[in-house]
Amino acid sequence: MSNLLVNCISFISQNGSRMSKLDKMEAELAQLTKQLAEFLSLPPTDRSTPGFAKIWRPISRYRVQLRTALQEQSSALSDPRYRDAKRSEIEQRVGYNAAHRRLRLWPQIEDMVNKQVTPERKALMPQPSNYMEGAHNRYVNHLYSALHTLALPSAAAMMNLMPDAHPDVALPATHFEALMHAAYRICLAQGRDAPPRFLDVGCGGGTKIWAALPFFPDARGLENNPTQVKIGAAAMAKLNAPADCIMEADARLFDDYSSYDVIYFYRPLKDSVGLTEMEDQIMKQARPGTILIAPYLGFSAEDDDIRCSKIAPSIYVAGVAPYQTEKLRDRAELIGTEAPVHSSSTDAALGYWRPLVEASRRNGYAL
Ligand SMILES: C[S@@+](CC[C@H](N)C(=O)[O-])C[C@H]1O[C@@H](n2cnc3c(N)ncnc32)[C@H](O)[C@@H]1O
Repeated sequence: MSNLLVNCISFISQNGSRMSKLDKMEAELAQLTKQLAEFLSLPPTDRSTPGFAKIWRPISRYRVQLRTALQEQSSALSDPRYRDAKRSEIEQRVGYNAAHRRLRLWPQIEDMVNKQVTPERKALMPQPSNYMEGAHNRYVNHLYSALHTLALPSAAAMMNLMPDAHPDVALPATHFEALMHAAYRICLAQGRDAPPRFLDVGCGGGTKIWAALPFFPDARGLENNPTQVKIGAAAMAKLNAPADCIMEADARLFDDYSSYDVIYFYRPLKDSVGLTEMEDQIMKQARPGTILIAPYLGFSAEDDDIRCSKIAPSIYVAGVAPYQTEKLRDRAELIGTEAPVHSSSTDAALGYWRPLVEASRRNGYAL
């Protein structure tokens, strides 16, 4: 047997099992990436360039070594005499391919990590022209308005609308996306332990629940028009949205606002008295730190209200003083704008990169 081939299959790990040279290197690298993930979890002001270099240097030494080990493994796999007798050939090839994919991720990982050493500050809400103008935004809103119409009741069923309710007028999808992204970054800056729960108050056909799901997988809506509830629920079921995501309730009387972390209300009630009643209910029950999204003129707590303070246009934080909201904004603006990731096809093969990818997602960065 050539020395090269012996090398790639001959290690005994701490627990006594046999390990390939490649497995051993990957295990060592996993310890180092864990350290780097801890560094990335520090507040941005505590992340120094020399501190980063000290952790990254030993990681970078593995790049060439891994490439060599992979070449050796490839030669061993193509010769039946040197394959691991305990694992099938397919298993070994799958393992080899996954290790190869991890190595190919190197430049993307390096880029993702580098951006977080001194992260760029970005406003929570972009300028309206950025999300409302241009061919792409107009196209997305054109498609969304079709989805919204499909989730509406028929004209006859619309006659059942409560006289004091707005018909289901939709906020354009691209404006909503900007609001969701800002709320998502604020939630990350709050460092929550559990995934935030989202509520659309006056959800009509439920299309905003659907649009919130990529940011907040636990998203629900409430609606008081029974016909709209029935038709919206059927539309959501067809899309495989979480079961019972539309609840039938009057927004002025709903008594469970405290279970939600992000509450969105786009002026569901037409008359200002009813609207204020609803706003009062929401702010009475919302837990401190709850994010309130009210994208309309005339929100009763828009200016100088002790019940909530503004963090970005149309976005408020309940139950915290303005100086705390300012500090939160300061942290949230340093959260990246790349997460959430809408596809996780590479997740299964992340291996030693996993701690870095997870820490980066918590900072708003993604591959
Ligand atoms: C302006 S639409 C909301 C559209 C959707 N949330 C969006 O942002 O695109 C208002 C919806 O609120 C519902 N609504 C009106 N009054 C309500 C109330 N008191 N309680 C719950 N829902 C109500 C209406 O039936 C209608 O479907």
